[in-house]
Amino acid sequence: MKCKSYKGMTFRPYIENDRIQARVKELGEQISRDYEGKIPLFICVLNGATPFAMDLFRAADIDAEITFIRLKSYEGTGSTGTVKKVMGLCEDIKGRDVVLVEDIIDTGNTMVKLLADLKELEPASVRIATLLFKPEALQADVKADYVGFEIPKKFIIGYGLDIDGLARNLNDIYILDEK
Ligand code: HPA
Ligand code: MG
Repeated sequence: MKCKSYKGMTFRPYIENDRIQARVKELGEQISRDYEGKIPLFICVLNGATPFAMDLFRAADIDAEITFIRLKSYEGTGSTGTVKKVMGLCEDIKGRDVVLVEDIIDTGNTMVKLLADLKELEPASVRIATLLFKPEALQADVKADYVGFEIPKKFIIGYGLDIDGLARNLNDIYILDEK
């Protein structure tokens, strides 16, 4: 596989689509076991989680629903800097078993805020599925239930993850080449 170039930076191949699909299949099987007899509601966080959420949703061999939300950034006054607000959730999630699907947990600050906002809507349960997790970048007390891959604290693109809106349509995941 060839390197990709965006904004004058070079990204080298890191996780091939075949490996992503194999891992998604495992997570789908795990979710199917965990939610047997239930009808979970997958909530995909736009835009980045879209490819992962659609693949994971199809890998779940149980009745399930999916919906989408966006996070709108606004300047907070607190120490976390930019705070994000949930937009576009039309479904009533009260009493639902929610699988929140994210592309990446980096500092974890976004996820903490998102979880707090969703829990106010009184779902029966919330579990987190994230394609990528950067343990070394974590600043918040948050734990994902389904993790695709743990990765180093480096910039990643592809399969939904962007650099200034680009590269989301790459089928494979690439890592910034800092050599
Ligand atoms: N790549 C793209 N978007 C991100 C990343 C990353 O490594 N971390 C947080 N958002
Ligand atoms: Mg982004």
